[in-house]
Amino acid sequence: MSHTLLIYSTNDGQTKKICDAIEQKLTSAGESVLALPLETAHTVDWTTINKVIIGASIRYGHFNKALAAFIKQFQPQLEQRPNGFFCVNLTARKAEKNTPTTNAYMKKFIATSPWTPQLQAVFAGALLYSRYRWFDKVMIRFIMKITGGETDTSKDIEYTDWDKVAEFANEITNANSIKS
Ligand SMILES: Cc1cc2nc3c(=O)[nH]c(=O)nc-3n(C[C@H](O)[C@H](O)[C@H](O)COP(=O)(O)O)c2cc1C
Repeated sequence: MSHTLLIYSTNDGQTKKICDAIEQKLTSAGESVLALPLETAHTVDWTTINKVIIGASIRYGHFNKALAAFIKQFQPQLEQRPNGFFCVNLTARKAEKNTPTTNAYMKKFIATSPWTPQLQAVFAGALLYSRYRWFDKVMIRFIMKITGGETDTSKDIEYTDWDKVAEFANEITNANSIKS
């Protein structure tokens, strides 16, 4: 049995939640999905994988360091099958900053990663004040203040556009060969 591998790098769970939604769509389109956190993805048997998608969130301007290490280690495995990458961050809550060519984190990723993902997407994440530790709450509130976002820390807001996530899942379903 061949699986579509979904790998997620998450801190507060939003990237996992997006992977869950993609998994649901792919499963209803008849795909067999294996979803793994980045931390255990190195254990995968690549002979059972026919597509691979990685999703990762941004924290203080950066992806988890383990992401670059994983890509370096498994670049051939990523490139040998239909592949994709999506980035989750709060900058993407703004319409003019929510595509692979307009989101600074995605642009930097594409410019610096040795792997150029075939499918690319950017999704707005969630602002979860109620879950943040004191320091993070202060920092995020400050960032929201200077970028015109929500500063009321009694509110949690999910900015993720689930229709856009569903569209990306369709793209994954339709990606059945490597573009040359
Ligand atoms: C401590 C912290 C730092 C963050 N730094 C950034 C940032 O620099 N830029 C940004 O656009 N979003 C930033 N975010 C927003 C996250 O990317 C967003 O909340 C996302 O949903 C997190 O996804 P995750 O739950 O999968 O980790 C930050 C969030 C937290 C909690």
